[in-house]
Amino acid sequence: MESKISRRKLLQTGIGAVLLGPPAYAVGVEPKWLALERLQIPIEGLPPGFEGTKVAVISDVHYPKNISKGFVDRACGLAMSESPDLVVLPGDFVDGHDRSKRVPNMRGLYDRLRAPLGVWGSVGNHDVAMGERQVLREIARNTPIRMLANEHVILRRGGDSLCLAAVGDLWYGVVDLERSLGGVPHEMPRLLLSHNPDLAEDLAPGRYRIDLQISGHTHGGEVLVPGLSFTPSKYGDKFRQGLAAGLSHRVYVTRGIGSPRFARFMARPEVSLLTLVRSPRP
Ligand SMILES: [Fe+2]
Repeated sequence: MESKISRRKLLQTGIGAVLLGPPAYAVGVEPKWLALERLQIPIEGLPPGFEGTKVAVISDVHYPKNISKGFVDRACGLAMSESPDLVVLPGDFVDGHDRSKRVPNMRGLYDRLRAPLGVWGSVGNHDVAMGERQVLREIARNTPIRMLANEHVILRRGGDSLCLAAVGDLWYGVVDLERSLGGVPHEMPRLLLSHNPDLAEDLAPGRYRIDLQISGHTHGGEVLVPGLSFTPSKYGDKFRQGLAAGLSHRVYVTRGIGSPRFARFMARPEVSLLTLVRSPRP
């Protein structure tokens, strides 16, 4: 009799663990389990001075929704542990759609970030929805991040140059590539920050030279379970995560570090480290 009861208890515990284990993991473990994703990106005509340039990417922080200051600091520390040459943050610094709410104070959040070629950002849909001007003001006041909006900077190493450009948000903002890339010599390789990866598919092939777009927005699908996965893209799962070939150009889509919907499953929060390498002209 006793062994029957203990067997039943064991079975119940086992079934409970099977049923509750994955949700508990998705809510309590994975959103805090940061991954460092390393990838080499061949760039045609990359000047020798930029060979091996390490680009750290931190995106979709969605502060302070379901993310602590300590976790953001940990992600920044992970990026800095790789001694990046350049740090980029392609949007969704804040979370929400209610402009009547105050933009959160970002003092101290990104203090660790520094890189010889700079720390640059662009806005995402949540930043625009919460009030682009206020978000930009807060970032300028309390972080080391310099924001780009439909403009570019020329990064220099020795006598060599590389263009870093950015556009506004594809859903709620302004995307103006004429302004963003205007005046950049065609032979100069370009990186483009665009929060939304769909831009790489939306543009007509060959219209603009863009060597690599760096995006976030899709959060890696967040919960990779049929019926629960969510990839906010016109193109299904094509730009869910990682390196993808758009109709116009390549895009690297980081899963980002925030978890605005509480959970992640098979889509760990990510700090990315992209290493640029020279690819010979065909
Ligand atoms: Fe996001």
